[in-house]
Amino acid sequence: MSEFNPQPTDDVFQLLDRPVWIVTAAAGPRRGGLVATWVNQASLDPRQPVLLAAIAPNHFTAELIRERQAFAAHLLAPSQVDYAWRFGLGSGRSHDKLAGIEASTAATGSPILPGVLAWLDCRVIKTYDAGDRLFFWADVLAGRRSAGPSPLGERELLSLATAEQKRQLKDNLLSDTSLLRPLADAWRQRSE
Ligand SMILES: Cc1cc2nc3c(=O)[nH]c(=O)nc-3n(C[C@H](O)[C@H](O)[C@H](O)COP(=O)(O)O)c2cc1C
Repeated sequence: MSEFNPQPTDDVFQLLDRPVWIVTAAAGPRRGGLVATWVNQASLDPRQPVLLAAIAPNHFTAELIRERQAFAAHLLAPSQVDYAWRFGLGSGRSHDKLAGIEASTAATGSPILPGVLAWLDCRVIKTYDAGDRLFFWADVLAGRRSAGPSPLGERELLSLATAEQKRQLKDNLLSDTSLLRPLADAWRQRSE
């Protein structure tokens, strides 16, 4: 059997520039957050806005969301790229990613980052475990948007990365892939 060639799929996905979200959550004294690009509007009904976030189950933030059944999703201005490095590298299990940030607390208990371009406070209504991702559907309870530029996208984030940040991103991708692949395989087998 010939080797699977990922290049054509990569080429297609490279046409996209997904917005960079910071998803935060808190449960009791524990709090944290991560960078997520798998975040989408999931309802067209303006009276009942829904957000769908796909979070890997090994991430600390997934633990917090499961426990509290809530999260906040933030969009950044390109000048706020430092938030992306703070939340997108390393694990909240080893350090408090919100240390030194004067975050406020939303109605759901989720931390709201100061000065961001936009945020939405969300309460989880349904969770689906797809092996390598937990899909959280959540009602949007509140939100705010400041005047500002277009939100930071993945392409700009990666173009601003230093050589060391690129190395860390690559390491994270490799370790996440090897950890999550068996979970995705098990989910496929369960679904057959
Ligand atoms: C551009 C980019 C996009 C990412 N998108 C996601 C995502 O959609 N879902 C996810 O679970 N992790 C995503 N990650 C990875 C997490 O942000 C990262 O592993 C984080 O350090 C996990 O932190 P935690 O363990 O404290 O929750 C992304 C990282 C980057 C840099």
